[in-house]
Amino acid sequence: MQRTLKSSCCAGKQSSNLLSSSFYPAVTPEKVVLVIGSGGREHALGWKLAQSRHVKKVYFAPGNGGTSENVGIKQNDIDRLVSFAKQFGQDCLVVVGPEEPLSLGVADAFAREGLRIFGPTKDAAMLEASKVFAKEFMHKAGIPTAPFAVFSDAGKAKDYIRGQDRPLVVKADGLAAGKGVIVCDNAEQALQAVDEIMVKKEFGAAGSKIVVEERLSGEEASFIAICDGQTIIPLASSQDHKRVFDEDRGPNTGGMGAYSPAPVVDDKLYHKIVSQVMEPVVREMRNRGTPFKGFLYAGIMVDEKTKEPYVLEFNARMGDPECQPIMMRMESDLYEYIDAAVDGRLKSMPPIQWKDRTAVCVVIASKGYPGSYEKGKVIQGLGSDFGPDVMVFHAGTTRNNNDVVTNGGRVLGVTALGDDTRQAIDRAYQAVKKIKIGNDEQHYRTDIGRRALR
Ligand code: AMP
Ligand code: GLY
Repeated sequence: MQRTLKSSCCAGKQSSNLLSSSFYPAVTPEKVVLVIGSGGREHALGWKLAQSRHVKKVYFAPGNGGTSENVGIKQNDIDRLVSFAKQFGQDCLVVVGPEEPLSLGVADAFAREGLRIFGPTKDAAMLEASKVFAKEFMHKAGIPTAPFAVFSDAGKAKDYIRGQDRPLVVKADGLAAGKGVIVCDNAEQALQAVDEIMVKKEFGAAGSKIVVEERLSGEEASFIAICDGQTIIPLASSQDHKRVFDEDRGPNTGGMGAYSPAPVVDDKLYHKIVSQVMEPVVREMRNRGTPFKGFLYAGIMVDEKTKEPYVLEFNARMGDPECQPIMMRMESDLYEYIDAAVDGRLKSMPPIQWKDRTAVCVVIASKGYPGSYEKGKVIQGLGSDFGPDVMVFHAGTTRNNNDVVTNGGRVLGVTALGDDTRQAIDRAYQAVKKIKIGNDEQHYRTDIGRRALR
């Protein structure tokens, strides 16, 4: 398998104008893109794709209050998504943001119609949809991950836990909106987690099986690559902030902020992740007759002591909010890479070029998230002068007459570029302070990016 290791510096920063768009002849933009989803990730993908010299229009289904050209089709309404794309035929490239439509088989449905879609098939998306599948897959492919056991019986799981003398993590098998993972300090908590998932069925059918695995410690990083079923081209490294409160306290969320690059992913680690994780995934998927085409996301834990990478999870899609800083740093034309991946031509593509800058994204959430929160709060300050290095990506927002109002837990991803991490952090927070939700009902972490300063 061809790997695109010339882009290894994208783990850190890279500057070169050799391959910038101006190097290529001008073309008449004639393609349309349909981005499926409604989050900050989708806004950022659409924003970047709209800059392509090939693209004349980007549509969003369903999109949010910050995206224009919303087509009013839900992300899981596969028949209507197919009908919409069909009117443009081969001139339409479909990019899938979230896991839900992937696990429902959106890529399979588009492929049956001969339409162009970037995202894994339902079978390949199992890497994210089932943690049992992912762990057994890693075991078979020799990909480093925490030692584990799988149970479909609560009693047997509890017997196993009582026999362990190390900290454990208990994970519901299926999709649980990022909440089905319980990191435990002791056996008592792990036994309780089994009850929550398997007896009280807090995550429904997603908890009919569980993974119990060793708890690892170290620093986490997100490693995402574009795959065409055979070749991978890594994106810049990034790091998420999963907990809702400063200093990684409180419950897990979808992500409260991110930055890129992640200094923990140095060149040595970058090469290890490519050769020990990403390439084996693509090889094993291909061997199984379910090639992986789409964004492949590995959640990595860098072991505190050994500094070796271990996979905590796979996602069959771009990260959110990791996407926002990654898109801000991407110099190359994203459309050209996705288009090449759809055709299986990644091998012939040059390495992706990255801005030699740092990007930091601070998520502004509704007060109460990830628990319950109110919607429909007016957002003020969106028209402020944020300066050229700031983008305010929308997530849980919608339009109500002339207002933009909240419509979800994670509301905005305020993303800034800086010459270094300090500058990017300062710029992002200066912009955050200009925005107000309702009667000061916004919540955001105040320590996004601080880890990268250490
Ligand atoms: P996952 O959805 O599997 O990535 O888990 C969500 C979060 O739980 C991860 O980002 C980690 O912070 C934590 N986590 C998952 N598995 C482990 C593990 N084996 N050891 C320590 N923390 C973990
Ligand atoms: N930010 C983590 C994720 O996208 O799953």
